[in-house]
Amino acid sequence: MTAEQLYEGKAKIVYATDDPKQVSQKFKDDATAFDGKKKGSIADKGVRNATISAYLFRVVEEAGVPTQLIEQTADDTLLTHYLDMFPVEVVVRNFAAGSIVKRLGFEEGQKFSKPMVEYFLKDDSLGDPLITCAHIEELGLITTDERNEIKELALRVNEALSGFFAERGIILVDFKLEFGRDKDGVIRLGDEISPDTCRLWDAETKKKLDKDRFRQDLGGVEDAYAEILERVKS
Ligand code: TMP
Repeated sequence: MTAEQLYEGKAKIVYATDDPKQVSQKFKDDATAFDGKKKGSIADKGVRNATISAYLFRVVEEAGVPTQLIEQTADDTLLTHYLDMFPVEVVVRNFAAGSIVKRLGFEEGQKFSKPMVEYFLKDDSLGDPLITCAHIEELGLITTDERNEIKELALRVNEALSGFFAERGIILVDFKLEFGRDKDGVIRLGDEISPDTCRLWDAETKKKLDKDRFRQDLGGVEDAYAEILERVKS
């Protein structure tokens, strides 16, 4: 019997399983940027991002952050807890890069005095805009308790992953997380943690080893993802 497809996103397809509390997520090679305006494919991205995510979910679990991961069931597939996703993306920034450089004029690579947390509305039709706590409240997206909890979890993820990557000669510049609630009411980290959703720079050369190579047409995209997988496994 083929599994029922529940949802197809830009980077993953979600399938039902026999257990309503669990879904299977297949990671795709498809890549998009700028709210889907730029489209392409990154060879072997599905397998690499599923594997990198599985490793990194385990790292953050060890730091006390519940995640969606149950187990990696195929090279490109993770069995996960079903989550009702919050319509808010949480970005944590350690160094300036990407939209904050354009928005506020920070110099790329500038270290922030402390990790900076930002919230974005998960809505492609609006271009996933930056939102404030007042916006979150007024739109009724999540409760203040939920916001406080995911902020605390995101900062814990940052501590765990910054150290993990530093030991592997990589700077965790910034990353985006998505949280949701499982069917038992537990808030868990969902989506993925991969070079699609993190900025990762080589600590010595500052070479970009993430999706910015695709976004900015820098070349060597596949090699960068392969390099991150190798270092994550080491
Ligand atoms: P930004 O600098 O473009 O706001 O991105 C911040 C971080 O979030 C960066 O690590 C890339 C990641 N990100 C996503 O995972 N998905 C997105 O749609 C965007 C815009 C950024």
